[in-house]
Amino acid sequence: MITKLLTGALIICLFCSCSFFCRPAKIRTGPEVITFEADLGPVLFQHRKHQHELKQNCVICHHKGSEKTHACRSCHKKKKDTVEGDPICFFDVKMSLCRDCHQKERDQETSKKAPIHCNECHDTKKIKWTK
Ligand code: HEC
Ligand code: HEC
Ligand code: HEC
Ligand code: HEC
Repeated sequence: MITKLLTGALIICLFCSCSFFCRPAKIRTGPEVITFEADLGPVLFQHRKHQHELKQNCVICHHKGSEKTHACRSCHKKKKDTVEGDPICFFDVKMSLCRDCHQKERDQETSKKAPIHCNECHDTKKIKWTK
């Protein structure tokens, strides 16, 4: 009786662990929205919307050489924290990667909404500096 119960328990255990480990690996898609703080006002970055818009082509932003982590901020730091020899700061990333794509979208008229002007990205109502 005891052995029967034990084998039964063992089979259940094996089944459970197998179905746990054999599940397809879930891809981490990251946050839906990311807020970047800036003096000119915070920038709401629609991460999920960009993933859809860019047809799940993550490599456009999560470029070759950044496979170790999805967090840009671990390599592209704030301007003031960037020392010589570091990768470009995130400010320069947004000036090249983000802005260039938006400009191209506007030029080719593939999108009228891709922001290029300061207040289209920055919520300037929450501006930090005063006169
Ligand atoms: C338009 C650019 C862009 C595209 C396309 C994009 N991402 Fe991101 N992703 C970012 C930025 C910017 C961050 C913010 C990183 C940070 O805060 O340092 C981020 C953050 C993440 C994070 C969270 C990192 C962390 O630890 O905070 C994950 C996970 C992630 N992305 C996965 C993906 C996947 C998977 C795809 C493709 C389906 C994708 N991303 C497409 C720009 C992009
Ligand atoms: C593991 C570190 C690492 C991570 C994470 C990382 N990068 Fe980079 N990135 C680099 C290095 C190194 C370079 C090349 C050196 C340079 O240009 O300063 C680079 C270059 C770039 C460039 C300039 C390409 C050029 O030459 O025009 C852009 C734009 C960029 N990264 C954007 C991003 C974005 C956006 C993320 C997050 C979605 C990210 N990177 C995550 C290390 C990283
Ligand atoms: C390869 C192209 C591409 C790149 C790279 C890209 N974007 Fe965009 N982005 C778009 C397009 C296209 C739209 C307009 C979507 C629409 O028409 O609704 C957009 C819209 C936006 C908007 C405003 C509209 C909204 O959906 O909230 C913000 C803010 C924005 N992007 C921030 C960023 C930031 C910050 C980065 C860099 C980390 C970035 N984008 C990188 C293509 C891009
Ligand atoms: C495509 C969206 C976008 C547009 C357009 C844009 N910005 Fe930004 N801006 C950002 C993001 C994202 C950051 C956060 C960068 C960081 O964390 O260093 C930022 C950061 C900044 C900062 C803070 C820099 C720092 O290192 O703390 C200033 C100042 C700024 N922007 C000024 C401007 C001005 C002025 C304009 C118009 C000429 C402009 N931005 C247009 C997205 C944008």
